[in-house]
Amino acid sequence: MSYVLILGATSDVAVACAHEFAANGYNLYLAGRDTGTLNILASDANIRHRVEAKALKFDALQSDTHQSFYESLNPKPDVTICVFGLLGDQQRSEHNWTDCEKVIHSNYTGAVSVLNAVANHYEANKSGVIVGVSSVAGERGRQSNYIYGSAKAGFTAYLSGLRNRLTKSNVHVVTVKPGFINTRMTEGLKLPKPLTAEPEHLSKAILKAVKKKKDVIYVLPVWRLIMLIIRNIPEGIFKKLKL
Ligand SMILES: NC(=O)c1ccc[n+]([C@@H]2O[C@H](COP(=O)([O-])OP(=O)(O)OC[C@H]3O[C@@H](n4cnc5c(N)ncnc54)[C@H](OP(=O)(O)O)[C@@H]3O)[C@@H](O)[C@H]2O)c1
Repeated sequence: MSYVLILGATSDVAVACAHEFAANGYNLYLAGRDTGTLNILASDANIRHRVEAKALKFDALQSDTHQSFYESLNPKPDVTICVFGLLGDQQRSEHNWTDCEKVIHSNYTGAVSVLNAVANHYEANKSGVIVGVSSVAGERGRQSNYIYGSAKAGFTAYLSGLRNRLTKSNVHVVTVKPGFINTRMTEGLKLPKPLTAEPEHLSKAILKAVKKKKDVIYVLPVWRLIMLIIRNIPEGIFKKLKL
């Protein structure tokens, strides 16, 4: 039976993914910092969906542990979903390098570090699927969140390069570009309802993208059009907008 590895498994999007994949017969590796919560999620999935589910300690900021973390998995996962991320506080990041660096590591370098280990194994094995949850924020830097956005831009480019490298090795890479999602990350923010996805929209779209071998998905699809417009606003106008 197939295993899916979910990195950042306490996130609302990850919990929805865990249920969606388990309901479709996947065993679960639930990796994250809070193993207490992960153990509860694992036994819930085990009871509800009758699949194997294991909670695993994983910290995206501890890059030196990522290779051995991946090597310890037996059997290896057929699908790896990288969900973790940190929105951070743009203004704090502008003035405090520690905060800024944490946002960059949590969205970019931490993901690169763990996915390098996964990708090398999948390449040697000539099979596997890697899913990276990036963001539309990575498509154009805006004053309100360009530290987070630039880290996601890096992650999007990384996933694109990985797909380009691994396609000949039968390894599929999916880039997920959500707009707003109704989760803990956006708690307290006033989000426009028609543009806001629920975690279940993401989990269903991710499973479908894995099954149908899609490369880049926007959730919700209207964001593809919105970002097309945003990317094409001339810089002379864009720089004067308060975005
Ligand atoms: N919400 C949105 O509007 C939105 C929009 C576009 C993209 N996204 C992206 O979607 C993904 C899921 O986010 P979400 O909305 O579901 O938010 P969330 O519920 O706040 O989830 C963030 C997750 O990242 C984990 N995480 C943070 N730092 C970590 C670290 N050092 N090591 C391991 N795990 C770490 C958190 O774990 P802890 O429980 O240990 O804190 C949590 O599970 C993120 O990549 C986010 O950037 C979100």
